[in-house]
Amino acid sequence: MNLLEKDKELIWHPFTQMLNSDPVIGITKGKGVHLFNENGDSYIDAISSWWVNIHGHSHPYIAQKIHEQLLTLEHIIFAGFTHPPAVEICSRLSNYFEGAYKFFISDNGSTSVEVAIKMAIQYWNNIDKPKTKVIAFENAYHGDTFGAMSAGARSIFFKAFDPFLFDVIHIPVPTPGNEEECYKKLSETIKQKDVAAFIFEPLVQGAGGMIMYEPEALKKCIQLCQDHEVICIADEVMTGFYRTGTFVATDQTEMQADIYCLSKGLTGGTLPLSLTVCKSFIYDGFLSNDMTKTFYHGHSYTANPIGCAAALASLDLLEGEETQKRIQEINQLHLGFAKEINKLENVANISVRGTIIRFEVMTNEETSYLNPVKKQIVDYCLSKGILIRPLGNVVYILPPYCITNNELEYVYEHLKEVVQGL
Ligand SMILES: Cc1ncc(COP(=O)(O)O)c(C=O)c1O
Repeated sequence: MNLLEKDKELIWHPFTQMLNSDPVIGITKGKGVHLFNENGDSYIDAISSWWVNIHGHSHPYIAQKIHEQLLTLEHIIFAGFTHPPAVEICSRLSNYFEGAYKFFISDNGSTSVEVAIKMAIQYWNNIDKPKTKVIAFENAYHGDTFGAMSAGARSIFFKAFDPFLFDVIHIPVPTPGNEEECYKKLSETIKQKDVAAFIFEPLVQGAGGMIMYEPEALKKCIQLCQDHEVICIADEVMTGFYRTGTFVATDQTEMQADIYCLSKGLTGGTLPLSLTVCKSFIYDGFLSNDMTKTFYHGHSYTANPIGCAAALASLDLLEGEETQKRIQEINQLHLGFAKEINKLENVANISVRGTIIRFEVMTNEETSYLNPVKKQIVDYCLSKGILIRPLGNVVYILPPYCITNNELEYVYEHLKEVVQGL
């Protein structure tokens, strides 16, 4: 039995309707932006393998650092123990946050969000000001665990769980033209309810369709919340590590969130790791002789040393001049492509933020995750050696930062070709 047959017999894939699903593609090797199948066919990874990869695949420097860490210390319980890579990564990242923050380490984006929501709610309990409400944006996606699903939009993804999700007040996204509606609902809600936290995907809502909004609008939302003692949680799982041009997208607002969730790019896309970074006033609210005020959360692989070593290696590369230059250049190229694709009649709602470009392909059906045009685009791109994963008719490119101009132009050219021919 070959790889694909064995896969079909045994494996249930994520976010996939397995009935009549398209055959999976077996990838056996990665190098830079390229992925290779068993036959040696190559694909340009134009979506950073679900938005995680920033330096390309199988990067030798990160591999070397992982190897060294594996031979030194592979894992240690993180309750009651610590280790150099955990302390070092938090110490280096603390330079990116102004003021005093504490770092809580876990192992995936959804968990970093669970931790953030739990921290916020328990904080208010601990200081004897219990608050129960959470505000989030409509159309949001914060992950697949129960707290994260609750904060997210009530989409087709989670229909079966609707009765089990806790109440979250969803307010309009302040996309251009909708700002006032958003501020109005936000300020009304804050004044009427006991709101513990406001959680948002800063500047770009990822899975909801790469919907973009302006820093000024987010600034106003954060300001409103902080003026009314509402904890602001920036879910930077997708937007962190310069994906939108700045270290975290919230930096563009010149405001600071009270809690940041980071994952995906943290290890450069090599190993699962995440951080929930909170202002020290939240941490202080848990310091007590009363044991019920402890934060009882932690997973077996919390702060895995190999993951932390990978994060350190990724940060070394990220801070390098070359990577910083590429981030700017990708943005410029995207802006050029935006003008180009704007000439097509069946393309609308083009936006660019940092290294992300998105646009909608207009069809007879509405813009939705289930729009079938996705398949035509994906199949064409695969036939040209390009890996993309549109959100229905929303097409986006979110490449590893090491992608070259030529590789990016190749992706643009074929995307334009396929969209033009629809
Ligand atoms: C903004 C945001 N938050 C949370 C998550 C969940 O992260 P993970 O898939 O690592 O659980 C995602 C994943 O796409 C995301 O985009």
